[in-house]
This record gives sequence, structure tokens and C-alpha cells, in this order.
Amino acid sequence: MKEAEKLTEIKAFVFRLFHDDVTGHDDNHMQRVAEWSRLLAVKEGADPFLSEVAGWLHDVGDDKLFASKEEAIKERDELLRNLHFSERDITYIYHAIETVSFRKGKTPDTLLGKVVQDADRLDAIGAIGIARTFAFGGAKNQPLYRKEGGSSFSHFHEKLLLLKDKMNTPSGREEADRRHQFMEEFINQFNRETASE
Ligand code: ADP
Ligand code: NI
Repeated sequence: MKEAEKLTEIKAFVFRLFHDDVTGHDDNHMQRVAEWSRLLAVKEGADPFLSEVAGWLHDVGDDKLFASKEEAIKERDELLRNLHFSERDITYIYHAIETVSFRKGKTPDTLLGKVVQDADRLDAIGAIGIARTFAFGGAKNQPLYRKEGGSSFSHFHEKLLLLKDKMNTPSGREEADRRHQFMEEFINQFNRETASE
């Protein structure tokens, strides 16, 4: 089975699981993370195909998105076995995905994990990161901004502005710097427009 055919099946699986998401974790998020994972892999010398696969699948089984984490993981396992991935590649992909989430606070110990984590973090910053933050906030009934915190806007200071210094790879860091700068401009303008006496 060709790599392109495997990717077609994986995309269909991801589309089915994430298409209806309105929290910023829809299938387009998976696609952007998959594309950046491949791009960073090429630049950093990781396996481009396995990185792309891990990018597509990185949020499958995330407990904030799935009622049954076990069920999602089981389906993912069946998918890759049906697509004839070797046990070695499956283990490598799953181990990388395990270490990706920011909230779990882990630093990946493989190049594959580092690349996918960087790709996921890039999608949390810049213009798309800003859009996702307010989409997430809206879906969770969070206020736009509030002086005392606990708002979508406070997420920039709590997490998003910290991400550029946590990037794993030089090419990830380069793109993060660009996106960070744009986010700072947005924050300055936001503060100007919302400042009250
Ligand atoms: P993970 O990468 O593990 O899914 P998160 O769920 O923390 O990590 O973040 C995913 C995206 O969801 C963030 O980039 C952000 O856009 C949004 N998000 C998460 N928590 C918040 C929050 N408290 N307020 C606004 N947006 C949030
Ligand atoms: Ni993600």
C-alpha cells in the first residue's frame, strides 16, 4: 500500500472524528499540524511521512475532545494496523503523540515528537492562534476579556506568549518568532481599543 493511499485513509478518519468541532480543534487544525509536521521534519531531518501521520492523529483520544478516550485510541490502533504500518512505526508514532500536549507539560524525547509538538504550538500562535483562542472561548462560554483574568484574552499571557521560548527545533522557532511578533501587535492594538479611564 502506497504512502499516499495510507494518507487518504487517515484523512477520511480524521475528517469523520473532527469535522464538527467548534473549539478550534477541527479537521483543518489537524491538516495544518500535519502539513507543518512534514515541513519541519524535512528541515530537521525527521521522517516526513511518519511526522505527517503523527500530525494528523495528534489529537485523537485527547480527553477534552473525546467522551471515551479508550474508544478513540482503539479505533486509531485498528486504523494503522489495517493500513499495514509496522509495529515499530506504530509505537514510534504513538510515543510521539503521547508527549505532544502542552497541558501535560512533557518535552518529547524523539525528533518526531519534537517536530509534531512544534507544529501544534505554531497553530496556537499568530493569526490562526488568535482566531482559535476566541473560538475556544466562545465554545466554552468564556468572556472575551476581563481585568481580573479568566477570559479568552488572558490566555495570551497565561500560555500563548510563552510558547516561542518553548519551541524544540530551530525551524519551528523561526516561524514562532514571526507569529509571536504579530500576536504582540494584536495585543497592543487590543489594549488600545479596550482601555478605559
Ligand atoms: P493542546 O495543544 O494540548 O490541545 P490546549 O487545549 O491547551 O492544548 O490548547 C489548544 C488551543 O485551544 C489553544 O491554542 C487555544 O487556542 C485554545 N485554548 C485552550 N485553553 C484556552 C483558554 N482557557 N482560553 C482560550 N483558548 C484556549
Ligand atoms: Ni492540536
